[in-house]
Amino acid sequence: MSSRPSVYVALSADLIHPGHMNILKHAAELGDVTVGLLTDAAIASYKRLPHMTYEQRKVVVENLKGVTQVIPQETLDYVPNLSRLEPDFVVHGDDWRSGVQRDTRQRVIDALEGWGGRLVEIPYTEGISSTQLNASVREVGTTPSVRMARLRRLIENKPLVTLMEAHNGLTGLIVEHTSVQRDGRKFEFDGMWSSSLTDSTARGKPDIEAVDISSRLQNINDMFEVTTKPLVFDGDTGGKPEHFVFTVRSLERLGVSAVIIEDKEGLKRNSLFGTEVGQVQTSIEDMCTRLSIGKQAQITEDFMVIARIESLILEQGMDDAVERAEAYIDAGADAIMIHSRSKEPDEVFEFCRRAEGFSKQVPLVAVPTSYQQVSETELADRGIDVVIYANHLLRAAYPQMVKTAETILHHGRALEAEPLLSPISEALSIIPENR
Ligand code: SPV
Ligand code: MG
Repeated sequence: MSSRPSVYVALSADLIHPGHMNILKHAAELGDVTVGLLTDAAIASYKRLPHMTYEQRKVVVENLKGVTQVIPQETLDYVPNLSRLEPDFVVHGDDWRSGVQRDTRQRVIDALEGWGGRLVEIPYTEGISSTQLNASVREVGTTPSVRMARLRRLIENKPLVTLMEAHNGLTGLIVEHTSVQRDGRKFEFDGMWSSSLTDSTARGKPDIEAVDISSRLQNINDMFEVTTKPLVFDGDTGGKPEHFVFTVRSLERLGVSAVIIEDKEGLKRNSLFGTEVGQVQTSIEDMCTRLSIGKQAQITEDFMVIARIESLILEQGMDDAVERAEAYIDAGADAIMIHSRSKEPDEVFEFCRRAEGFSKQVPLVAVPTSYQQVSETELADRGIDVVIYANHLLRAAYPQMVKTAETILHHGRALEAEPLLSPISEALSIIPENR
């Protein structure tokens, strides 16, 4: 055992910069440094998932000068680790005295009092920060494999993964960059949903698999050129099984994280029509065959083939949904999407309850279009892992466009439509390269 004082430093250490080195240098002067390295889940609880996994970051930090050992810090809160280690010092930059980290800091001070430890704060290193570095990494972009793997990492590390529909470069940019501050935390969408409904509607076509895969892949390419977040592809029925093999490979090559296929057959109609239009659920055997063809086609370990159950949409009952889910999981489905067009979330909640008894647990996906009053917290509490806002950006744009067209027709000029529009300066600055 070293007789030197013990020092605790908590780091995310995703993009190491001189500010980190300055803190570690001061810490090492005080004693033996233990780095509490925030786990992916701890980081995801307040900001974006780090670029590097915990294991990758650990290798880096272990090799930094002055670091004696690296242990996981499982929460944003230091107290569980501090109570165990009772360090003589905690070292941190002085930038946490104000803002969202204030409470965390106070809890550190209170805990240290328990054994006479001391908080040492180092003047913040100006001119460089993880936020700036993150912004420039986002500008540089990502690779297909990094983007693809991100969905599984998100599911593993967040209570709920949120996906928003995007159907072109512009809506992709909105999903990539929109964020809000709520309860002292930054909220943004985790990824994109490539919806058959919005992809076809944007082309003025019905949602009946009439938009061919090449056009849909072109859309994804447009979105991927300007974003870094993962994408889940609405694969409809998967098409002909012989063709699904090629679809899976093309999606993987682009860096799409998952395809969701639904258990319908023949001419597919949008699920939200329910039983108003003739649509037929396929047999369990047929769907299992499609799923295993998809799983066999994939090359990477990261890609996911997700089974979508239409039993509740087509009024086949909960027992049918449950039986299918277990069969689809057996056939290799990496997750289950349980679709519902009920106005209440009850049947989805009931499915979640039944899913607790499945012999193999897989992530559950919900699409609360018709039961839109449900909150993300409620969904996560019931056991949903991924929520998809399936058509909202397209539905937002449509009424505004129609209103603008009508206003110009009514007035025989454009002036009255102006309040409905972005000012030109704002419209130009949507695209960073225009600025
Ligand atoms: C889509 O977004 O195309 C979907 C979800 O498949 S739903 O429209 O609800 O069927
Ligand atoms: Mg669809």
